[in-house]
Amino acid sequence: MTVLSIAADPRTDVGASPLADVGVSPLADVVGADLQAPLVTGGHARYVNLDYAASAPALRSVADRVSALLPLYSSVHRGAGYASAVSTAAYEAARAEIARFVGARADDVVIVTRNTTDALNLLATAAPGPVVHLDIEHHANLLPWRARGGRIVSARSELADIVAAVEDELAREPAALLAVTGASNVTGECLPLRRLAEVAHRHGARIAVDGAQLVPHRRVDVAATGIDYLAFSGHKLYAPFGAGVLVGRRDWLDVAPPYLAGGGAVRRVRLDATSWADCPARHEAGTPNVVGAVALAAACRAVAELPEQAVADHESALLARLDEGLAGVDGVRPLRLWPEAERIGVVTFVVDDVPAELVAQYLSAEHGIGVRDGRFCAHPLLDRLHPAGAAVRASLGLGSRREDVDRLTAALTALRRTGPRWSYASREGDYLPTPDPRPLPAWAAAEALPTAGPCHLSQAL
Ligand SMILES: Cc1ncc(COP(=O)(O)O)c(C=O)c1O
Repeated sequence: MTVLSIAADPRTDVGASPLADVGVSPLADVVGADLQAPLVTGGHARYVNLDYAASAPALRSVADRVSALLPLYSSVHRGAGYASAVSTAAYEAARAEIARFVGARADDVVIVTRNTTDALNLLATAAPGPVVHLDIEHHANLLPWRARGGRIVSARSELADIVAAVEDELAREPAALLAVTGASNVTGECLPLRRLAEVAHRHGARIAVDGAQLVPHRRVDVAATGIDYLAFSGHKLYAPFGAGVLVGRRDWLDVAPPYLAGGGAVRRVRLDATSWADCPARHEAGTPNVVGAVALAAACRAVAELPEQAVADHESALLARLDEGLAGVDGVRPLRLWPEAERIGVVTFVVDDVPAELVAQYLSAEHGIGVRDGRFCAHPLLDRLHPAGAAVRASLGLGSRREDVDRLTAALTALRRTGPRWSYASREGDYLPTPDPRPLPAWAAAEALPTAGPCHLSQAL
């Protein structure tokens, strides 16, 4: 067992920020906002969710829409009952709402997938030629392309150089598709999508954007930006009901092999021949995730109805406070690629002399703060930014408030000053609070404990 204790640093004063009142309150009502998290040291604290980039909580309005749907839930497209008619209408209306939300062209198609990973893997089966991508991507936007021999452009230290490097690569050898992230899930930095789209189109390629991180934070207009394909996930957009989407040009998808073979994707099947449907049905074989699609559409509607400036102000005020707070904690080092880049509310950092896994466990166990630690499914980028290994990521969303950021800053300050108050056993690179007296709800314990590797909570209570 390893118990860490860290020397004091007197420099931090988290109460001294002169920032204005924006961000004091959440911008939207999210389910679980008042969750009380048990602490290893006894008692509870309001759970501070700084892990929106992994999965965002459901918006209350999304949960309400799901509750309204469930009594009417039934099979879609083929059922004759009233509930089937309602579910079918709701499912197709969801497609239209999602298309509107991202400014899709009239002839674009919206294919409901499981998530961003699924959407990009689908696109990888449809792209009719070589693919170019960057080396900073989440594995979801890296591995599908690598599997089909994608050409990698290394992201440079200045954004303008990346656009030039992409242009050089496309000029050197033609490609069908350029695949880039909208915003990095590690640094929160945004790519210049309009310029990249222009470059791709100038060289006869299309552009696909991994919008998993960007879409929950910025209004994305597919048509105006020149994006040909956009993939994103409901669970990062306040609709954690298992649906994602691929939105984009129909022609490649209409002739691609069906993503899954099965019912719903066909026009006619004989024992010796199959006539496949066009999109979207072609790639939605099996019973679709109606609840997930309706939830995602409800989230799109709710986010679209928020004043755009209020969303931007809320996020930038909290991000500035987070930057300022972290800068005031000695030994905390944010990981960045491009100082000039616009950023969404995602900050990844390392704490000198304290393993990231321990920082994350400490924040949860002693302060009720949820962050993510690890290499964020972006190993090549982490290898570059922090070759020593894992880091800690704090991420913000519509339910975030100033107090959340300040709680993180105060907890990190305490970690640097006095070290953890609890004991953490080091096991195979992980750190587990030992003992861990925090109870799970009985229903979660019964389901999760026998198989859940990463569950660190004690079964005893
Ligand atoms: C930038 C980025 N792309 C893709 C993904 C994959 O999303 P999903 O797990 O919903 O498929 C993530 C998830 O963290 C991400 O951050």
